Amino acid sequence: MADEPPLLTGGLTERSYELLVRAVVDYAIYMLDPQGRIVTWNSGAERIKGYLAEEVIGRHLEIFFPAEDRQQGKAQHLIATALREGRAQDEGWRVRKDGTRFWALTVLDAIHDDNGCLIGLAKITRDMTERHEAQLRMDEVRAQLFQAQKMEALGQLTGGMAHDFNNLLTVILGATDLALRSDKPERIRSLLDNIHTAGIRGRELTHHLLTFARRRGLESQQLDLVPVLEAASTLFGQALPKGVILETVMASTPHPVCVDPNQLEMALLNLIFNARDALEQGGHIVLQAENRYLHGEWENLEGEFVLISVSDDGPGITPDVQARIFEPFFTTKQFGKGTGLGLSQVYGFARNANGSIRVESEPGKGTRMTLYLPAAI
Ligand SMILES: Nc1ncnc2c1ncn2[C@@H]1O[C@H](COP(=O)(O)OP(=O)(O)O)[C@@H](O)[C@H]1O
Ligand SMILES: [Mg+2]
Repeated sequence: MADEPPLLTGGLTERSYELLVRAVVDYAIYMLDPQGRIVTWNSGAERIKGYLAEEVIGRHLEIFFPAEDRQQGKAQHLIATALREGRAQDEGWRVRKDGTRFWALTVLDAIHDDNGCLIGLAKITRDMTERHEAQLRMDEVRAQLFQAQKMEALGQLTGGMAHDFNNLLTVILGATDLALRSDKPERIRSLLDNIHTAGIRGRELTHHLLTFARRRGLESQQLDLVPVLEAASTLFGQALPKGVILETVMASTPHPVCVDPNQLEMALLNLIFNARDALEQGGHIVLQAENRYLHGEWENLEGEFVLISVSDDGPGITPDVQARIFEPFFTTKQFGKGTGLGLSQVYGFARNANGSIRVESEPGKGTRMTLYLPAAI
């Protein structure tokens, strides 16, 4: 202890402290009086906002806000919050002296003297424009990537669907032919039943496909899982080759969840199509949903969850491949067959939803992928 240098602040006089604050250039640091008028100004404030000290001292904080925020009294609102709660934070657009905008991260702290009397407010602002723009570009790229994945998925779905429709039309045409040649009311009735069933299946398929194709925008909402899982099972089930059977198991009604339906559907598609690709020789896929109360047994998750799993009885995943499957662009499939983006979408979706994805796989026995989603109850 005795050898440690004295703390820096211990040796700082009030004057040197003031000089230090004034010299900081990456942050605007200044004081406001309790009414919100500017009292001090540092180099960072000058650099970020473009005003010299003599141009702003005495003026109200609201001069930095865009017109729409000024009309809504945003500056006054922040000051009131800081006075009431001791602190107010905000993130949003601000205006420089030359009229250009920057994205600011701000903290406003109420400052009291030793006797507890309010002296004023300390304001710290950071210019986050670059990071904000990088984030926006990232969101845009992510949305484009999602759209590209979706177009690819739609291609696969419609390919299978043309085949399915052909089968439905064969049923309808065959049954109409027979009905036209029959004069037995009972026989005609049973043929009409067949035609009706085929028609309903066709309608369901197009309905699910159109819903899947039309969904836009990435937004979470409270979601009833039953229709989503049923639609996934009908729509993705029809795109499977002959020897692959998809079975859906819902032991009890799953709790609702709060997720983006677009992303959830895509995650289910990615999991089911991975199982399909693993089942080159044919086999079974089981889509299952169940409610489970977690006590931290998986990734420290706690509370009420819905577990949605996709299992297959394919060849499984070896440990060295398993270590990499969530990496973007990692694929073991031939060029043109895999992009390596499926599981990275599933992973991102699960994380965004404050849940998780779990892989259980044994070479030779098959694979189970389980989505853990927090119940919205
Ligand atoms: N059910 C599964 N059975 C066996 N291997 C799987 C399964 N799901 C995923 N994989 C492995 O994980 C890899 C990455 O999957 P994914 O990210 O969906 O990309 P892609 O399907 O385009 O290859 C696959 O190439 C495959 O090796
Ligand atoms: Mg895939």
